Amino acid sequence: MQVIDKHTGLFDRIARVYGWFFHRQQSGYQVALKRLSESEDLSSVARVLDIGCGTGALCSVFAKNGYQTSGVDSSQKMLDQAKKKTKGLNIDFQLASIVNDLPFENDSMDLVSASFVAHGLPKDLRMKMLKDMNRISNNLVILIEFNQTRRWYIDIIEWAEHGDYFNFIKTIDNELSTIFTLVKKVELNATSSIYICKKDHE
Ligand SMILES: C[S@@+](CC[C@H](N)C(=O)[O-])C[C@H]1O[C@@H](n2cnc3c(N)ncnc32)[C@H](O)[C@@H]1O
Repeated sequence: MQVIDKHTGLFDRIARVYGWFFHRQQSGYQVALKRLSESEDLSSVARVLDIGCGTGALCSVFAKNGYQTSGVDSSQKMLDQAKKKTKGLNIDFQLASIVNDLPFENDSMDLVSASFVAHGLPKDLRMKMLKDMNRISNNLVILIEFNQTRRWYIDIIEWAEHGDYFNFIKTIDNELSTIFTLVKKVELNATSSIYICKKDHE
């Protein structure tokens, strides 16, 4: 039996409203991909998987830039929005939860990403996701996530959401370095960074 986690219900409820911000998110992720390509040689990247893809903004940027793109999410309603918002683009969306092992072979992707997913998960599930990202990628793993710069409005939203943000910003650097061989942080804006990791081939 597939186990679906408790966060899914929340995202099922807010999917339509979340979708209102799709184009704004898309612009931000286009900048993120540019910054990533300035930092890393992406010439050998062809297959990309985005975990917790939500309404598909990051997937759409990957697909528009020519990558063979897959996205998974545990919320059917978020995926319904994603399919609507990315009509015309060739993206493979699948319903799957990181609570279970994701349905992708070892080393089957050149880049595996997760944007604003990790801080919302309890540490044990976050570590499980990071290990599964390491298993599926044959090269790059990236998180687009909050960095350590605090803002009062982010504190309030994250306090209300009951995620793991306050621990996440303290522990993520150390958590990443226990799984990946190289970690580089590229600033995206005042409060977010791209955490760039390389697969640990051990
Ligand atoms: C804050 S949203 C971010 C969505 C998208 N990555 C973005 O940047 O807009 C977090 C996403 O993680 C998904 N999620 C939460 N728990 C999950 C799980 N166990 N497995 C897969 N996706 C999950 C939610 O359904 C939601 O779409």
